[in-house]
Amino acid sequence: MINRREILRLLKTDDKKEIQSLLETADLLRQQNVGKQVCIHGIIEFSNYCRSLCAYCGIRADNKNLVRYRMPIEEIRDTALAAVKDFGYKMLVLQSGEDFYYDAEKLSWLLKAIRKDARCLLFLSVGNRDYETYEKLYKAGARGSLFRFETSDKELYGKLHPDCSLDERIEQLNFMKEIGYLVASGPIIGLPGQTLDILTNDIYLMKDLGVTMATMGPFIPTLNTFLGEDFFRENPSLNQRESATRESLEMTLKMIALTRLLYPKVRIPIATALEKLGGSEARIKALNGGGNAFMLSLTPPKYREYYQIYADKQNLEFHQNSKKSVAELAELIKSCGRNVCKGWGTDFTLDKQEFISLCGMNK
Ligand code: 5AD
Repeated sequence: MINRREILRLLKTDDKKEIQSLLETADLLRQQNVGKQVCIHGIIEFSNYCRSLCAYCGIRADNKNLVRYRMPIEEIRDTALAAVKDFGYKMLVLQSGEDFYYDAEKLSWLLKAIRKDARCLLFLSVGNRDYETYEKLYKAGARGSLFRFETSDKELYGKLHPDCSLDERIEQLNFMKEIGYLVASGPIIGLPGQTLDILTNDIYLMKDLGVTMATMGPFIPTLNTFLGEDFFRENPSLNQRESATRESLEMTLKMIALTRLLYPKVRIPIATALEKLGGSEARIKALNGGGNAFMLSLTPPKYREYYQIYADKQNLEFHQNSKKSVAELAELIKSCGRNVCKGWGTDFTLDKQEFISLCGMNK
């Protein structure tokens, strides 16, 4: 198994041949450990209200230049049901800013309403909530939580998140696991102040937490955020911005590959932020370099332009709530010699029986 020194060395290198062989090794390990299947998951971004002040995020509470929306819970339910019944999704993430308008009661209603009429694995991504709330939501049918730790470095975490500490974040991840949630977590890559040592620790933290999904993506400088404003000031020319973008993109590809090397059986979704920076080419590279899942946005078009956790998120290709977008992505997956996963996946850390019981299909 790869060691820390080797991870650091590979994060540092810009030798093209060496990077290529890293991606190829990750591809081989992916094949040996989780096979050919690539799952397509859906994400419904149901509210962009947020009480938090994360320094990189476009929906942070004090961004006054953003139209805020909340989807009615019946509409969230209908969007989810259509995704499962009409388009064949098996796993959905229900995501929002930290919006306590959706309390345990409303979210429980929603989870039960979806589970009543559709067999699917439901992940929540609703941020900081207490133990009791997560316990209630588990009882109501949530089985996974997408909750990134963002960075494994306490000091950097503190600088970026005035309202929370890394210790609290990790505590939350641990209690989610204790309740029974499958946990999806990981870092943002390319944050100012992030060192290669920190990125190496990020990979180890995903493994130590035993995440079911290692979800990571590049930092995208976004207006109306502290980090975004700094970035645009410090990189006034297009050239500078493009070279910064290329760097985060390449670093993300290396991080995906190295995560596959250290934690071979984990599911690694290819984040929309990577696609935003590098288009289909980056998606294919990630797919051939350790990645084995995709996340498509199913947010209804009328809300999409306001879910600006990072700039221009709404303009990504593929992400339409339609058979066509699933079919197009399936084509891309097949053109890489891979199969579209029909369920949660049988050759994955979660076996078929576990998936079936998690989804309540055996009841
Ligand atoms: N660039 C990249 N990722 C971001 N996120 C939020 N803002 C940005 C940004 N500017 C990610 C965070 C968060 C997830 C929902 O979106 O990791 O957990």
